[in-house]
Amino acid sequence: MNRADPELYASREAIKQAVGRVAAEISQQCSDGVVLVSVLKGSLPFLADLVRAVDIEVEVDFLALSRFAADSGRVRLVKDLDCDVGGREVVLVEDIVDTGLSLGYLMGELRRRSAASVGVAALLNRSARRILPLEPDYVGFEAPDEFFLGYGLDWDGRYRNLDRLVIGDPGLLADDPDAYVRILY
Ligand code: IMP
Ligand code: MG
Repeated sequence: MNRADPELYASREAIKQAVGRVAAEISQQCSDGVVLVSVLKGSLPFLADLVRAVDIEVEVDFLALSRFAADSGRVRLVKDLDCDVGGREVVLVEDIVDTGLSLGYLMGELRRRSAASVGVAALLNRSARRILPLEPDYVGFEAPDEFFLGYGLDWDGRYRNLDRLVIGDPGLLADDPDAYVRILY
């Protein structure tokens, strides 16, 4: 597949609706309060909108993962949490759950730290390439097997600041990471 132009997947309005629904679900499940743990950097716009849409007490914290090698499923923590999640209700906030390998690692880490519960909110849930049998508890969009950009999702650091989600062609971006810059901005 070769797409010259990226295709709109979710408008700002569609994202706003999805985030509102996820926020309502989390508020209902975690009525005594929650620690929202954002997985940097892709989940930042999702977190920022989510945190203002829930109507429960919220603490926010951040962590970051890195892959050992570009195509490796193995990940390690490169930025740790500041807060102690022991005994707390935690919801991990992810941009997209793909193979589930990152999520598997993070769930293990949070359980090891004795969180009372660990839920997962994913803006996008792309099941097609799932390796670990993990499903997010709160899902913005059940995503097709495509590559997404915008609203936090990047290619080589680019396109994160788009206010909408678009589908791009990874083949094209591999040749020229800036291929969509003139079209999208
Ligand atoms: P996995 O579930 O461990 O395979 O990895 C998911 C991570 O890979 C996400 O948190 C993203 O950072 C990145 N990723 C996966 N799919 C996409 C995509 O379509 N666009 C941008 N980043 C992606
Ligand atoms: Mg991520």
